[in-house]
Amino acid sequence: MSERGSDFYDNDAVFQTYMERRQGQDNANDTLEKPVMLELIGDATGKSILDLGCGDARFATELLGEKHNGLSYTGIEGSTNMVQTARKTVQGLNARIEQSYLEDGTYPVDTYDLAISRLAIHYIEDINRLFHSIHGTLKKDGVFIFSVEHPVITSTLQPSGTRTNWIVDQYFVEGYREQQWLGGSVHKMHRSIESYYMALQNAGFRVEHLRESAPQRAYFVDEETYQRRQRIPLFLFLSARK
Ligand SMILES: C[S@@+](CC[C@H](N)C(=O)[O-])C[C@H]1O[C@@H](n2cnc3c(N)ncnc32)[C@H](O)[C@@H]1O
Repeated sequence: MSERGSDFYDNDAVFQTYMERRQGQDNANDTLEKPVMLELIGDATGKSILDLGCGDARFATELLGEKHNGLSYTGIEGSTNMVQTARKTVQGLNARIEQSYLEDGTYPVDTYDLAISRLAIHYIEDINRLFHSIHGTLKKDGVFIFSVEHPVITSTLQPSGTRTNWIVDQYFVEGYREQQWLGGSVHKMHRSIESYYMALQNAGFRVEHLRESAPQRAYFVDEETYQRRQRIPLFLFLSARK
């Protein structure tokens, strides 16, 4: 596929809608995705961190802040809109943003303690190659943690809106599926849970944790949204060690 996932975010209207939703009350990223990422990351003290598909890099301010005490942060990001925002976000921090597609990024060997990726890897066609690069760029015992749109969701892709049913179909047929989302059209890669798991193993990782985005009441303001989030899993998380 010639167009990469990050190109979608360089449509200015899409970018604006995305950023508004990303910051909305009870947005799925903050209520469902971030709590599990933080649990899996655990102690970031003194760690050099690589963030793949870092978006606006707001996570850098937290990971390098007083609470988590990370040592350094490198974000790789393909979208110009995101990179411009991210570079402003990380000003004054021990952080840098590399503008590159993840498929073409620089992955210097034995460099990072922790590689993370939040909701970017479902845009990538060849995760075997990418996971090998990530394995190589981690130091010994380094950890790779990522979240993706859950395969139950990517298997059902259909025009968005508030859905009332999710029909899982062609689950084992992997490949790009089109979604009308945020006022644009985007291709997300559907693959099974097993494929994600095996890609990690094939790259040489030991898989340590598999999580789904079970809602936790404490993170929601609105009861109805919390109840709605019980229906289907939005995100899948895997954590693996070199
Ligand atoms: C849903 S956003 C998540 C951003 C950020 N990780 C967060 O959680 O706020 C997905 C990000 O992945 C980036 N992305 C998607 N495909 C990419 C690719 N092939 N190379 C680089 N970045 C990519 C997009 O530009 C976008 O910033």
